[in-house]
Amino acid sequence: MLKGKKIILGITGSIAAYKAAEILSLLKKKGADVFVIMTEPATKFVQPLTFSTLSGHPVITNLFSLNDQIEIKHVSLSQWADLILIAPATANIIGKIAHGIADDMLTTTVMASKSKVIFAPAMNKNMISNPIYQENVKKLVALGYEFIDSEYGLLACGEVGEGRLADIKEIVDKVDHTLLFKKDYKNKTVLITASCTREPIDKVRFISNYSSGKMGFALADVAQARGARVILITGPTCLPTVKGIDTILINTAEEMKNEVFKCFKKADIIISAAAVADFRPKEIFSGKIKKEETKKMVIELEKTSDILYELGKKKGNKILVGFAAETENLVHNASKKLKEKNLDLIIANDLLAKGAGFGSDKNTAKIIDNKGIVRELPLMPKTDMAEKILDEILKIN
Ligand SMILES: Cc1cc2nc3c(=O)[nH]c(=O)nc-3n(C[C@H](O)[C@H](O)[C@H](O)COP(=O)(O)O)c2cc1C
Repeated sequence: MLKGKKIILGITGSIAAYKAAEILSLLKKKGADVFVIMTEPATKFVQPLTFSTLSGHPVITNLFSLNDQIEIKHVSLSQWADLILIAPATANIIGKIAHGIADDMLTTTVMASKSKVIFAPAMNKNMISNPIYQENVKKLVALGYEFIDSEYGLLACGEVGEGRLADIKEIVDKVDHTLLFKKDYKNKTVLITASCTREPIDKVRFISNYSSGKMGFALADVAQARGARVILITGPTCLPTVKGIDTILINTAEEMKNEVFKCFKKADIIISAAAVADFRPKEIFSGKIKKEETKKMVIELEKTSDILYELGKKKGNKILVGFAAETENLVHNASKKLKEKNLDLIIANDLLAKGAGFGSDKNTAKIIDNKGIVRELPLMPKTDMAEKILDEILKIN
């Protein structure tokens, strides 16, 4: 939620200016107070009336014709804002800000502000690849300005290429994360495993479990928002991959193990949230087993590798966090697992708890550390739980 957060939404002269209405509407829905500044070219694409209606504030378009009733000058507005989002951002506005030009209300406000500034560029693919534009972006990034990369797709000019405004949800999430999270995971690499594994029986069938990947993905999302470099190794899932997270897709426990140990060296913190299959069919039939030819089916299973146990043996001074999903003796079983696998922290989930567990958007858990201290986490969204888990990890030394 963005309740109490103050945002300036800068809109510039791109054909994607109409999408700013949806961005504004989503920011308002999240509780933010939003002032809109439009450049003069932007007003040729969309009427300020749309934005004044949605924001509940007058829209500022001209540096020299501020209405007294607005009682806002460029300097006070720039100091009022917690964050400035420019979406869509033209090549022109990026070029001007990169060179310290302040010749309209938006550029003047940015120049006078100490708040975080985020650009969501939208432009023709040749403008994006123009080395002058690229130099301007590089300069701004080095100065701490942030960019939400444009997407590849059909552009308004009819061409296909890089330059479409990023997905609206991605833009709003970025604002949300920037305002809500401190960057306390900066310079840390977090390796996270998520979802289930699939252990093949034949070419079309497999053994698996109900893990959806939601907890692992929430951890990856929040860790990235808090400044970490995130490597996410995930089994099959319906969840979309997140830009900026190094995502590796696997199917089986063996593939999971191989990828985990390939990435092991890079990680400072390893969080094993995946529900890796404990057993797999000893033999994989080469084709599809025909039901007509098989009266009774017996599948012999063998144990898969215990990835967490092997990580525990190798861990050195890395932080190792595991999950335990139990149906009985939650704390006892989870504590045993923590000791046996040499973990620093274990998140114990009660699979029988109402409204929590596999596939759910919420979770309840007990966090147990290696001193035996147990912390209760009541039922909460998995993103909130991810935050709490990451807080606990930072307390380990
Ligand atoms: C139909 C049309 C669409 C445009 N779309 C874009 C665009 O998507 N991105 C961009 O950088 N410039 C685009 N431009 C050019 C900008 O409007 C122009 O550079 C203008 O000076 C930008 O001013 P501003 O940055 O102050 O809003 C477009 C121009 C026209 C006529």
